[in-house]
Amino acid sequence: MMHKIIKQLFFTIVVFSCLFATAQPNVHPQSEKYEWPSDPLVKQKLDQWQNLKFGMIIHWGLYSVPGMIESWALCSEDWINRDSSFTYDEFKKWYWGLKKDFNPVKFDPDAWATAGKRAGMKYLVFTTKHHDGFCMFDTKETDFKISNGPFKNNPKADVAKYVFDAFRKKDFMIGAYFSKPDWHSENYWWPKYATADRNNNYDIRKFPVRWNAYKQYTYNQIGELMNQYGAMDILWLDGGWVRPRETVNAEVLSWGARIPEWSQDINMPAIATMARKAQPGLLIVDRTVHGPYENYQTPEQKIPAGQLNYPWESCMTLANNWGWVANDHFKSSAKIIHTLIEVAAKGGSLLLGIGPKPDGTLPEEAVSRMAEIGQWLDKNGPAIYNTRTVKDFHQENIFFTQNQKLGLQYAMVLLQDNQLLPAAIQWKNHAAKKGTQIICLTTGETVKWKQKSGKIIITLPSSLLISAIKYPALSFSFVPAD
Ligand code: GLC
Repeated sequence: MMHKIIKQLFFTIVVFSCLFATAQPNVHPQSEKYEWPSDPLVKQKLDQWQNLKFGMIIHWGLYSVPGMIESWALCSEDWINRDSSFTYDEFKKWYWGLKKDFNPVKFDPDAWATAGKRAGMKYLVFTTKHHDGFCMFDTKETDFKISNGPFKNNPKADVAKYVFDAFRKKDFMIGAYFSKPDWHSENYWWPKYATADRNNNYDIRKFPVRWNAYKQYTYNQIGELMNQYGAMDILWLDGGWVRPRETVNAEVLSWGARIPEWSQDINMPAIATMARKAQPGLLIVDRTVHGPYENYQTPEQKIPAGQLNYPWESCMTLANNWGWVANDHFKSSAKIIHTLIEVAAKGGSLLLGIGPKPDGTLPEEAVSRMAEIGQWLDKNGPAIYNTRTVKDFHQENIFFTQNQKLGLQYAMVLLQDNQLLPAAIQWKNHAAKKGTQIICLTTGETVKWKQKSGKIIITLPSSLLISAIKYPALSFSFVPAD
């Protein structure tokens, strides 16, 4: 037993620490192009989704058990280092075996949804299946699932169902993360051959029957999720290298991963038709595969350089990893709030990554930061939610948004830790209508302002200057001059 634990720990430390040192070809780049959907229901949902601005992506799977990088350690690419005293095959065997240790007896999806709601998040994306193929829903297609291990007799064994229900009850839009590649499937990584990298390990042109079986399996699993798990808003498809060969472009090549000569085409049109029949208006996010099934773009771990005039979302981790890893470094709530402000001013949404622990609870550091973010949004939310972009959206430490329906513009002033508040705040090019009020949303007070040489100058109320509370950002609402 002790030996096993030490070995587990060792794997975790070695695999994990080495992953950081390298450039990460597992990070999806931002797409170059965008195609607006034509289906009116999809357009409508997209517009609703663009109002939400802040979502939560939960990575929870086998990798959470030892607390290591999500799935990737299984992949034999040379940016992933392992200790040479363990063979690749040994590692794989150990990893697949984690299935018997995954028993999240404290799984409490209502607590997750409560934490998400408190944070001011409005939509959820949950990993139903990551690249390792381990299913967090009760699929009929494989036994490699949470509902078939030590957790199988738990009333919430069909984990995804309870996660979706809990967030739905709190009015979240619901998204299913699903990995197109499945490294556990014998029709993706055929055990007859070595598995050299992230791709399927046989020439699909030579073995079309095997690939067709894989396609059918993928179609069936997505079918289960779309038909048996309640109302679904987003199908978030990860693993962008699984795509028709003709869609391979410079961005894909920039990943640095090998792209095989054959086409890993899973027939998205058929999947989309089936999925939207079950879930009319469903947003499909086939990451980085431009066209009708990438309804919004998903730059990862970064914010695009400027505004984009189509729907997009930055997915970013709250800590350093998507899943739970012991002693991970958590970003500060101020950092996340600044990120959210910048993302909103550039017209996007922020999907923040949280990794629950193997017992089913959320890390305390995540819960406390989420509460702090929520406190800020409680007051300043109008400057973020339901907003769209304005021209000249950024001046020094100020970002601007607008709410067209309310006829208001917002200025959000980013403050650094321990920064003393200036007595006045000013900006140009965003004039306020004469005789109207400017309100500091952060405190709820009406502020004194004047307009001088094309600049708005706000005098901060003394209450704010002497306040002991340090705000990560102040926001102001104003009626723009016509
Ligand atoms: C990347 C990673 C994947 C992770 C996803 C989340 O695609 O490779 O492991 O789940 O980003 O955005």
